Amino acid sequence: MESSDFSREAFGDKALDTVNGDIELKNVRFAYRNKGYAPVPVIKNMDLHIPAGQSVALIGRSGCGKSTVLSLISRLYEPNGGTITLDGADISTLNQDTIRNSIGMVTQTPYLFSMSLRDNFRLVKNDVTDEEIVEVCKTACVHDDIMRLPDGYDTVIGEGGSMLSGGQRQRIALARALLRDYPVIMLDEATSALDNETQATIRDAIENMHGKRTVVMIAHRLSTVVNCERLFYLENGKVLVSGTHAELLERCPEYRRLYSEEASA
Ligand SMILES: Nc1ncnc2c1ncn2[C@@H]1O[C@H](COP(=O)(O)OP(=O)(O)O)[C@@H](O)[C@H]1O
Ligand SMILES: [Mg+2]
Repeated sequence: MESSDFSREAFGDKALDTVNGDIELKNVRFAYRNKGYAPVPVIKNMDLHIPAGQSVALIGRSGCGKSTVLSLISRLYEPNGGTITLDGADISTLNQDTIRNSIGMVTQTPYLFSMSLRDNFRLVKNDVTDEEIVEVCKTACVHDDIMRLPDGYDTVIGEGGSMLSGGQRQRIALARALLRDYPVIMLDEATSALDNETQATIRDAIENMHGKRTVVMIAHRLSTVVNCERLFYLENGKVLVSGTHAELLERCPEYRRLYSEEASA
């Protein structure tokens, strides 16, 4: 970030009391600008609507702009054109608290502290009860993993969570986000070493959250997201086509190709 001249994140002063989690991008354009390099347009006149409470996934080839879209929605970057709205309000007019309390982001490499798991959860909610912790961990499909650790929830998980696999770390970060009760949760699925079991548990977690909040997921394996209500296939900075897995299989040759490549991998 030091060497670049991205628009710094800027916030407005408007607050939303309750947030349902409807997100819409209209005609959004964005280019990365790094000093000494020509701007790289990544998002080109993108339209995308995610109704409140839906579980959706952004899919497409590596580098097509999926992570960038999540960064724009969470306002890490500012679009060069077009608008992004949350419940109809332009997010550039919303204050920082409204954005930060509405949208939870679970990254590919979530950070966990070298303390007990229970204390990691207390960091985000200091009056949290044991029952609440277990509840969110069950929703995030990581409770059983935790119960297999030497001291369960009291296990001190090592620097950055080194005692845990990448998939476990990510599901714990998801549980942490659930504890914060964000109306919108965005999840950029870990790329590395995602075994089939982890994919299945993430898929179950998405199903557990269904209807309670908006979930926007980036999947590196399509099998994680086939049950999402809507898939947005991104190509060349735009949504090429959207629909359910079955609809895309029927209507979108690019999707069919991606899906069959993965099935035979
Ligand atoms: N900080 C950056 N500076 C310049 N280009 C970037 C930066 N981050 C990503 N890109 C480029 O933007 C494009 C989209 O990246 P990304 O949104 O991460 O794609 P995806 O998540 O779909 O793999 C890629 O071509 C990538 O190389
Ligand atoms: Mg990405």
